[in-house]
Amino acid sequence: MCNIAGGRCSYNMSKFTSLMRPRSVAIVGASKTPGKIGYAVVENMKSSGFTGEIYPINPKEAEIAGLKAYPSITEVKKPVDVAVLCVPARVSIPVAEECGQAGVKHMIVITAGFKEVGKEGRELEDKLIEIAGKYGMSIVGPNCLGVIDTHTPFNATFAKNMALKGNIAFISQSGALCIAILDWSLKIGLGFSQFVSFGNKADLNEADFIEIASHDPNTKVICLYLEDIVDGPRFIKAAREATKRVPVIVLKSGVSAAGAKAASSHTGALAGSDTAYETAFRHAGVLRASSMTELFDLASAFTTQPIPQGKRIAVITNSGGPGIVASDSIELGGLKMAQFSEKTLDLLKETMPSMANIHNPIDVIGDAHYDRYETALNAALADPNVDAATVLLSPTAVIEVDKVANVIIEARRKYPDKPVVASFTGGFAVENGVAHLREHGVPTYAFPEPGVATLRGMAKFSELREAIRDGEEWTFDDVCKDKVKAIFEKVRSDGRDLLLSPEAAEVAELYKIPAAPSRLATTEDEAEKFALEMDFPVVMKIASPDIMHKTDIGGVKVGLKSKEDVRAAFISIMENSKKAVPGAKIYGVEVQKMMPKGDEIIIGMVKDPTFGPMVAFGSGGILVNLLQDASFRLASGLTKREVDEMITETKAYTILKGFRGAEADDIPAIAEAVARVAQLCRDFPEISELDINPVFAYPKGLSALDIKIKLS
Ligand code: COA
Repeated sequence: MCNIAGGRCSYNMSKFTSLMRPRSVAIVGASKTPGKIGYAVVENMKSSGFTGEIYPINPKEAEIAGLKAYPSITEVKKPVDVAVLCVPARVSIPVAEECGQAGVKHMIVITAGFKEVGKEGRELEDKLIEIAGKYGMSIVGPNCLGVIDTHTPFNATFAKNMALKGNIAFISQSGALCIAILDWSLKIGLGFSQFVSFGNKADLNEADFIEIASHDPNTKVICLYLEDIVDGPRFIKAAREATKRVPVIVLKSGVSAAGAKAASSHTGALAGSDTAYETAFRHAGVLRASSMTELFDLASAFTTQPIPQGKRIAVITNSGGPGIVASDSIELGGLKMAQFSEKTLDLLKETMPSMANIHNPIDVIGDAHYDRYETALNAALADPNVDAATVLLSPTAVIEVDKVANVIIEARRKYPDKPVVASFTGGFAVENGVAHLREHGVPTYAFPEPGVATLRGMAKFSELREAIRDGEEWTFDDVCKDKVKAIFEKVRSDGRDLLLSPEAAEVAELYKIPAAPSRLATTEDEAEKFALEMDFPVVMKIASPDIMHKTDIGGVKVGLKSKEDVRAAFISIMENSKKAVPGAKIYGVEVQKMMPKGDEIIIGMVKDPTFGPMVAFGSGGILVNLLQDASFRLASGLTKREVDEMITETKAYTILKGFRGAEADDIPAIAEAVARVAQLCRDFPEISELDINPVFAYPKGLSALDIKIKLS
């Protein structure tokens, strides 16, 4: 958002060092009264291990918690990096002004009562932003819990406790959630590098904190809880950049504003309420968690395990049932059961008892001691056909649980590039082993499926990151932007927002999107001339923005094969239209070449208010809304790889690649058309909706039949 005048749109990370590694922190509204927020923040700062200066500010007190207190921040007379505001909303305005005068760099405004409470609060928040802008201060909040950095260390929050030291940056739009997560994390021993509640995000928002955390050497994974995103393109840029170094995982609640789109287009009707976020996260390389549990399961795994190179999983178990559960979960969730090499199979054949299953899942069977696990796990991890492993254990009377835990810890050391998760299923019998594994950073689960889900998330991140790496936008320089601009200007000057079909076809042609030839005839002679030029048969349709159901009123004639047919059709279409809709503005009659039937697809675009134009590809024709078969990607930054993915992930692809012996359609030409549509929408942000339905796909080439372009 970058609300601050002259702010940080181009990033200077050293500026934020003083936010996360301050040398001095003032607490404005510091209090001696236990139970007050100003009291809690002072206590937290003092007990956090912070080694810089702490300045309590309170007009009535000379000393708070053994620290010298100042009546105003302007009285400190020493540099203050961060001021934590815990005074009521109205008081925070003059306090912010004083912070500015005192040269404060960042304000963490814990105070509530700003835009979240309505108009009056909104005005206060605007005032706060204005003051911060005037002095070049940044704002965290207002209406937030505050900020923790465990490595600085400092705790500028009113949470009950300090977070444990760790490598997860947790950034949350909800302060209450922060409090709950923090308490829970202490119980399970989960550590954080940074812990940020950003509240109303009057200034610093999710994109800023992603950038800040991605530059933090102590952060290995960034987790966010988000309810909305204020600046889609900046979020994507920050996340894509961050992802090159650390995974970014988001738990997003609520639905996108695109859900409320005017679904006048087919493409609009195909986009679900969450399509924009789903599409944007994928493009940003962001892994989306579906629950809090998944968010932290993944976060823990990323801080302790390497990122897998692929999806091939080895399963090692001492009992059949859990092995099958894990295998099902692997296959159903899009991972692959690894196929072992001959060398691995030979080794397992030699070392395992004859009853054991040496193929994946490796079943070391119920009488196994720890040494069979050792052999099996090491053999699997040494195999180049294996990307990751999950070790399952049922506590038989003979298995040495702790020794199996050691085997896993050792194997992790020996094969540092392959993640291993474990599921020791049981209660008291596995307790120590589980604790031992966790201490040594092996993600451990009560049952097999969550472990597989973690590996799935990790493999997905690996794919997302790979996609970002070959992320060149697919562009074309053989397009005629100026001519398209002229067409749009003409449409506008005509008082329309919808292009006539021949105009839309011309736009397509100018962007080399193959379209059925189409011309606008204003006389019978012109209609005849155009039909001869494009060759018979032709279709003729009334060209009027005021006539919606053209076929119903006799405004469409198909299969016209001669000059005579065309002339007669022109007269009859004009007469029918004038009679059916008196006073309609009629531009003439469209003459369109009748194309041979092809496989029907749709290419379109719908605009999201946060993330901009999204292109769509899917099954087209009159059943488009019934089939609901479409994939979406952001037009901005659309790569060849993304377009190929878009096509292959639809059901339409099954038809296009040649269904039941039929010849395959020209998929490269289709991909190019999708990319050209994306470029058209990028070049002309005034296009609010675009629908090409149907497009006929042929073994050689394609043809756009019905093109709708609406301008905003
Ligand atoms: N400079 C410094 N201190 C000042 C001051 C000033 N200009 N004006 C007043 N103070 C002092 C007060 O005297 C008081 O200290 P005291 O306890 O010694 O009397 C202290 O600041 C706090 O002011 P007070 O009026 O007592 O406010 P409060 O503590 O009842 O409430 C907030 C202040 C910020 C906690 C409250 O307004 C609020 O926003 N609560 C909700 C916070 C929240 O939920 N945030 C979102 C979390 S996710």
